[in-house]
Amino acid sequence: MAESDKVFAGSIPKFYDTLMVPRAPEAYAANLAELVAASSPGSVLETAAGSGVVTRALAPKLSADARYVVTDLNQPMLDYAASRQGFDSRIEWRQADALDLPFEDASFDVVCCQFGVMFFPDRVAGYAEARRVLTPGGRFVFNVWDRIEENAFADDVTKAVAAVFAHDPPRFLARTPHGYHDVALIREELSRAGFADIRIETREEVSRAPSARDAATAYCHGTPLRNEIEARDASMLRLATDRATQAIASRHGEGPVAGKIQAHVIVAAV
Ligand SMILES: C[S@@+](CC[C@H](N)C(=O)[O-])C[C@H]1O[C@@H](n2cnc3c(N)ncnc32)[C@H](O)[C@@H]1O
Repeated sequence: MAESDKVFAGSIPKFYDTLMVPRAPEAYAANLAELVAASSPGSVLETAAGSGVVTRALAPKLSADARYVVTDLNQPMLDYAASRQGFDSRIEWRQADALDLPFEDASFDVVCCQFGVMFFPDRVAGYAEARRVLTPGGRFVFNVWDRIEENAFADDVTKAVAAVFAHDPPRFLARTPHGYHDVALIREELSRAGFADIRIETREEVSRAPSARDAATAYCHGTPLRNEIEARDASMLRLATDRATQAIASRHGEGPVAGKIQAHVIVAAV
């Protein structure tokens, strides 16, 4: 993973939340929240919470006396999430690296993480850290994107932007968000971290956007793909977005667009 892949700062939190979240993460947030809430946990830790799409879905499902600690590596993402959430005395916002959690052993009934583990530099270490803070019988509930070919807009954008920078194609989307989809590997790494009961479901959803430009802008401006494009030539961000727009429009039409998205949803118990 490139160092810039984990930088969600500057204009990215706002673009991520307003453009990207409605295109893809939102479709999975309600499902993750239901899985977390199913055991009526008294304490929940969310890691890599980003701009808070799961937090907004989960908080209403938790009991009035639940403890809900919401964390992310990047403080600007958490600040954005907190500003959207409004005051909730059950929620504690805290900057934290999921691989080095500032919590005691066995302090949460559930740890949840939506589309975050792909960013962990060492997955087994991240899983072991989730396991360490879980109570006996606790559950780790998370999801990961499937391969990029199963996720239409991300694939279209990656190919179109690659053609703009033919000698050094930006591969953020394929490398990181869509780079950890091997179910056998996920099982093996969870087992190595000490999880015993591992259930994985593959869920297909549809991503919708008002226009091809809207979808292209989400990926090119609202994710660290923007960091990669700007590192090559900041003046090319507009051209790259235009090419991505054309690619999506040519496959999905000029008006409102819809494309397949697919993810693996995992529930692992200690
Ligand atoms: C694709 S976003 C997902 C955000 C949110 N969960 C969602 O579903 O929209 C990935 C998030 O992982 C965070 N992240 C990256 N590396 C991390 C780490 N080591 N520990 C905690 N969070 C991390 C980033 O700051 C970013 O907010």
